[in-house]
Amino acid sequence: MTSTDWTPERFDRIADFWAERLVLESAALDVYGELAEKPLGPEQLATRLKLDPRAALLFLDALAGLGLLTKMGRRYTNSPAAERYLVPSSPDYLGHRLISARNDWQLWSQLAESLRTGERQRDARIFRDDPEAARPLLLSLHRNARSRATDILDRGLIDLSKRRRLLDLGGGAGTYSVVFCRAHPQLQVTLVDRPIAAALARDVVTSAGLEERITVLDTDVDERELPSIYDFIWISNVIHSRSFNANRALFERLYRRTQAGGEIAVHDIIMEEDRTQPASGAVFSVHMLLSNGVGRCYTYHDVHTWLTGAGFRDVRWVRDESDYSIVTGRR
Ligand SMILES: C[S@@+](CC[C@H](N)C(=O)[O-])C[C@H]1O[C@@H](n2cnc3c(N)ncnc32)[C@H](O)[C@@H]1O
Repeated sequence: MTSTDWTPERFDRIADFWAERLVLESAALDVYGELAEKPLGPEQLATRLKLDPRAALLFLDALAGLGLLTKMGRRYTNSPAAERYLVPSSPDYLGHRLISARNDWQLWSQLAESLRTGERQRDARIFRDDPEAARPLLLSLHRNARSRATDILDRGLIDLSKRRRLLDLGGGAGTYSVVFCRAHPQLQVTLVDRPIAAALARDVVTSAGLEERITVLDTDVDERELPSIYDFIWISNVIHSRSFNANRALFERLYRRTQAGGEIAVHDIIMEEDRTQPASGAVFSVHMLLSNGVGRCYTYHDVHTWLTGAGFRDVRWVRDESDYSIVTGRR
């Protein structure tokens, strides 16, 4: 997301959202999964997708016009791009990202209300109470985090070579746990998350064949204490969903869970002091306003305050060219 190239074309692109919305809806309806086996006519598709026949025709022709479907006579089939990215059985499937964006679209339609009242617009706390929304979001984070996790190790942004027991707090689908374990055979990991994510993480850990080395705990860390056995705590994409004071309290507890000589690493979009950059973090903070009403992206100074207040020392901001960065501290 750049903050400088404000041309008339960019404003046009922003106003031109109809095609985007059609694509998001098509992924949520799984048009492409229906067409994975063989071409189908509009009536068959309308029946399978439970759509009005005339509306289905307009919808399918628009998707064909956009190049996601190919129209052959009266029948439709997936284009090569749809076959690769939008059929759920494809290894390159990225429909979770689109389905999750579609869920966010409903939320963002209520922006005016949040701006007026300062209140969140989602009733359910997504990761706690809303599996239908949480699963595609976690799977889409999983897809993106795989390369980020590898990159973090390749660039030496954290050093796990001498670590033995890692806590992956709010570990989601288990992406970081799996990548870290594969790279460091001496590592034992405990992934802690709430039930929806923990169930997903168990599947990911099992398919990676790492059940012996990664223990998945269904635990809300605000409600249950953890043992004090960890020499590395990894906390990725969690602080932005919490209030300043909830984070302060969490790091005080985590300090007590870290062994002497152990380390903590906080991975998130860490904001510059004026809180406008990275722009993706400033925009994400508005998403947190809409989504849970208490979170936001925090500055290095904020994280430094929590970590040093809890007792961690040698606090450092480890940055690369990504909008995400890491703040580390030692006990
Ligand atoms: C945005 S996801 C991040 C997943 C993963 N760490 C990553 O970076 O891709 C945040 C995760 O933190 C978990 N989480 C947030 N607060 C938590 C708490 N108090 N106890 C356990 N898990 C929590 C959520 O359930 C969710 O799975």
